[in-house]
Amino acid sequence: WPEQARLISEINALKKQRDAVILAHNYMTPEIFHGVGDYVGDSLGLAKEAARSDAKVIVQAGVHFMAETSKILSPDKTVLIPDLRAGCSLASSITGADVRLIKQRHPGLPVVTYVNTTADVKAETDICCTSANAVQVVEWAAKEWGVDKVILIPDEYLARNVAAQTTVGIIAWKGRCEVHERFTADDIKEMRAAYPGAEILAHPECPEEVLAASDFAGSTAAMIDYVEARKPKQVVMITECSMASNVKGDVPGVDFIGPCNLCPHMKRITLENIRDCLRDMKFEVTVAPEMAERAALAVQRMIDLPP
Ligand code: 13P
Ligand code: SF4
Repeated sequence: WPEQARLISEINALKKQRDAVILAHNYMTPEIFHGVGDYVGDSLGLAKEAARSDAKVIVQAGVHFMAETSKILSPDKTVLIPDLRAGCSLASSITGADVRLIKQRHPGLPVVTYVNTTADVKAETDICCTSANAVQVVEWAAKEWGVDKVILIPDEYLARNVAAQTTVGIIAWKGRCEVHERFTADDIKEMRAAYPGAEILAHPECPEEVLAASDFAGSTAAMIDYVEARKPKQVVMITECSMASNVKGDVPGVDFIGPCNLCPHMKRITLENIRDCLRDMKFEVTVAPEMAERAALAVQRMIDLPP
């Protein structure tokens, strides 16, 4: 596609000119993921890269909370997002004021917050987690605080799935990912009947009956590692549609089948608006310094945990 090739070379030239890197989430379309992403990965990987990068400008090819996380970790860099409307149903399910109320109701318990949240929520948090490390973080927090319960917000399903893997008690919130909450146990049943040999991988933001019926649950990066290591003949990725499209090229011989759902927020990011973003230096994402400092403690604590 000549138009895509033209945009990709324009973007790559602008990156050099602006001293910019593009951090692209696994849910970006293949032309972004393979064509212009300097670092691609899951939420944890991108947060670590934002902290490490020495470029002057970070373009977040992902959603707004990811750009805020980059800004929190790199306050001196210019952080841009190609479309300010790229939100997230989990991030918009809770506010900092909600977290203060939860803390009042459960004094003395640590607050573990999924990174899919706004900066004001992270600022009320003791330690962040992602779907890749949630169990480890919950167990660390319980031990560190000397308690047998922790607050884990805002994803109700992630909280239930973590609760099933630990003896630590979990106090949850009612947020949901609009992409993963739509998968059902019947979807898995149908896939098993149609493709008996297929391996089924599901994201921990799915309902627990979906995970119980699947062969593996993990973050987007963990799903990619699983497919690359085991090279199953047929695989179903119960997650956002771009995942399978992105991994396909790297693991020839693996047949990707089955249902997927699109994230309308992730899909707001396009090659065109990435080009415009670098050309016009828009849209800048900022976080009030006092809030960013408090939020940074929670994100950095997570990054500093041993692997
Ligand atoms: P991970 O890439 O961390 O698995 O997160 C998935 C997701 O829904 C991000 O918005
Ligand atoms: Fe939010 Fe779900 Fe979209 Fe990720 S996939 S940005 S959690 S709505």
